[in-house]
Amino acid sequence: MNNRAEFKRRRLALQAQLKPRSIALLMARPEVLRNGDSTFTYRPESNFFYLSGLAEPEAVLMILSKDLGGQCILFNRPRDPKLERWNGFMLGLEGAVSELDMDEAYPITEFQQKLPNYLQQAQHVYAPWGRIPQLDQFIKNAQEDLKKQVRRGVSWPTEFIDVQRMVDEMRVIKSEYEIQLMRYAAQSSVKAHLAVMQYAKPGLHEYQVEAHFNYHCGLENCRLQAYSPIVAGGANACILHYIENTAPLRDGDLLLIDAGGEYNYYASDITRTFPVNGRFSEAQRQIYELVLVAQLAGIAAVKPGTAWNEVQHVMLQILTAGLVKLGLLKGNVTTLIEEKAFLQFYMHGSGHFLGLDVHDAGAYKIDGQWRLFEPGMTLTVEPGLYIDANDMTVDAKWRGIGVRIEDDVVVTSQGCEVLSAGLIKTVAEIEAWMAK
Ligand code: GLY
Ligand code: MN
Ligand code: MN
Repeated sequence: MNNRAEFKRRRLALQAQLKPRSIALLMARPEVLRNGDSTFTYRPESNFFYLSGLAEPEAVLMILSKDLGGQCILFNRPRDPKLERWNGFMLGLEGAVSELDMDEAYPITEFQQKLPNYLQQAQHVYAPWGRIPQLDQFIKNAQEDLKKQVRRGVSWPTEFIDVQRMVDEMRVIKSEYEIQLMRYAAQSSVKAHLAVMQYAKPGLHEYQVEAHFNYHCGLENCRLQAYSPIVAGGANACILHYIENTAPLRDGDLLLIDAGGEYNYYASDITRTFPVNGRFSEAQRQIYELVLVAQLAGIAAVKPGTAWNEVQHVMLQILTAGLVKLGLLKGNVTTLIEEKAFLQFYMHGSGHFLGLDVHDAGAYKIDGQWRLFEPGMTLTVEPGLYIDANDMTVDAKWRGIGVRIEDDVVVTSQGCEVLSAGLIKTVAEIEAWMAK
């Protein structure tokens, strides 16, 4: 896989969208302190990484429109043996050219001083306004600098355009290279999910299951998680973004694990729900199988030309009809859907774009209309049912049951490929696997 060519192709694709006399600027996100002087593991901001291929802080990517020379320039940290002794390898200016195919590279410390020279040729500045205050400030300072020179005939940009939306949109359709990375992230996470299904048992704590999941992702080359794993035993599964993961697992409860490894900065996002003791109770099985039927129908609806909201529509029909059949809702299915009665048990969307970010970039509606699926889009399909432990409107046997089933798919020319397809999900498959 030639990722250098891929990053360069993206920069040129952005350049092709710039107006004449334009400069596009993107900046690496700074390191973030966790406590004291300890930093979180550095994770590049996705749009900056998407265009530059650089995973280091303290860098600015500048893309000039063709009429201004068309160069792609990186301002980054020069190599420094002393700093590298303490903090590890840096790509440096030579690496920016040789490894990332930049046309030019300069020390980041020269960016502020050099910026006015570039800006005075430009009329339009594309930047992620408001997202990286330091970059906004650099541009503002350069503007002020140029304005002071007005009587010498110096000019400055007059139009400020959001580059974020443009790059977000570029990221919606994945290349073959990106799909390969996402397939790998999903398949690695599938192995980790399979491992924890056999590991979980009553008496363990949620964080021990989380540790086991992280361990297996690491073994499968996903060192980091794409997001904080949700490891939710029993009624904790009804807290949609439960990430405390501190409770003991109880015999007779379900365990919901929403977790996915990140590979080369690409996310997977997979949920399975299974019984802590290896056997679904009758009530758990009924809820589980209802969610599963809805999920399979949702996945079947993902194909080119289908609108985003159609997936939710298909799943809502099945979930609502099933809830009526089980006695959890009463009334006419169409009316219940119109009245959004399902919100009592199902209060989130059908899924989301997936890519460099778990909730990936891109608009879901275009000109007010739900977007149609196109080959190369990657997304999750993740219905669930969550019955509050204190919901006195339902029979006691349902209370505290929370189920979500989530897979990752890529839209193909015919329909979709399930990237996480290797992960079992029928009741029979799960019980057989856990009994092994
Ligand atoms: N793991 C977050 C989500 O499923 O959207
Ligand atoms: Mn998701
Ligand atoms: Mn998820």
